[in-house]
Amino acid sequence: MRIAFIGDLQYATAEEERLDLKMAQIREQSPDLAIVMGDIGGSHMKSVGGFQETKKYVDMIGCPYEVILGNHDVEYAPFDPVIFDYETVYHDVFPGKELFSVKERDGVLMICVSCERRPPEDFRTHNAVFVSDRRFEAVRSALKAHPGVPTLLVTHAPLAGSGLRRWMPLHAGATDMYLDMTFKAGRWRELAAEFPQIKMSVSAHLHLSHEYKSAITYRGGLMHLSCGVMTVCARDDIFQTRFADVDADGAVIYTLDHSTGEFRRDAEFPFDGEPSGNLSSPADGKMQLGDDLPTSVWKYGGRYYAATEKGLLWEYLPELCEFGGAIMLKGGADEICASEGRLLVRNFAGEVFSFDPESTGRYERIGGCAPPERRGEKAMRGDPLPRADFGIETEKEGNYVVFMADQ
Ligand SMILES: [Fe+2]
Repeated sequence: MRIAFIGDLQYATAEEERLDLKMAQIREQSPDLAIVMGDIGGSHMKSVGGFQETKKYVDMIGCPYEVILGNHDVEYAPFDPVIFDYETVYHDVFPGKELFSVKERDGVLMICVSCERRPPEDFRTHNAVFVSDRRFEAVRSALKAHPGVPTLLVTHAPLAGSGLRRWMPLHAGATDMYLDMTFKAGRWRELAAEFPQIKMSVSAHLHLSHEYKSAITYRGGLMHLSCGVMTVCARDDIFQTRFADVDADGAVIYTLDHSTGEFRRDAEFPFDGEPSGNLSSPADGKMQLGDDLPTSVWKYGGRYYAATEKGLLWEYLPELCEFGGAIMLKGGADEICASEGRLLVRNFAGEVFSFDPESTGRYERIGGCAPPERRGEKAMRGDPLPRADFGIETEKEGNYVVFMADQ
């Protein structure tokens, strides 16, 4: 079975993008199935017209398809009186399709999971990549009902710990880099460990090309597959669509380049062995920083806090192999102390604030206001956190900070 994964359809107009030609390029590769990965409708996102436009163009591929929704399709502001009724519009425009679907085909189970709205009482960002407990349990039930069947888990955003290339600091600083970020992200890693039949986690959302080893990663028996985009929303100006030939024995991964028309083989993955090709295996404690560089690292309660040249302070959660988020986005951390369950941060201007390291509201958010539970402090107090050794590695993806475990 050949699957085409249609990355985020964000653009000004479909005509300018020549979506008709791009869909024809996809059709030429004879996919048996297309999966629309969410964030759809171009400049008409969150509208009947936007959903209809997506349908019009995806219909041109001429094969069966699934549609999941992404964070932008379901986003909202808690006090906005007009909230897009995405479920009704979805079912009207895509009759017979489901926001959550489980299908077995050619000996492979495909579980396609849309984003949902994070409830107002737990609102952190309108961009949340959120899945409800109910839908998460439905994923688990589907896996239990199909024991041992090789499974593709298809979600709009990647799972925590994917190590897939991301554009820093955008998504990490917006608390929407991976599924259920600042919510229950760890449960997806636990699910993959509990059900090793999940062979591939397929995602979009990051709008980056496949020209990097970290566009496909392999960690703990699970392949993470990033899907590029065909439109102007590509953050590296490379327009690509991901393909995979999948059956019960394994998968072969391809890229269709919309600028050159090239269709190339990127990697292969026999499900009873290890993958090979243009991919990487991310190391624990090694995080992308893009064009930024670490300047200091502190350790607290098994976590690392990394200050950078550009003045950010990232929190690294080893249980997720990810940044939990940014404690601060500018100002530069000079010192961190612990006092009575709170951490105090002093920036290079001498200003001090404190935060509760267990609160889900501790992260500053790009485009947002200050974290709700951040408190201004008159001065530092408590015990200075120990500084930790760290490494710097530079690859095509950019700079990495490497956290060093105690020897
Ligand atoms: Fe997205």
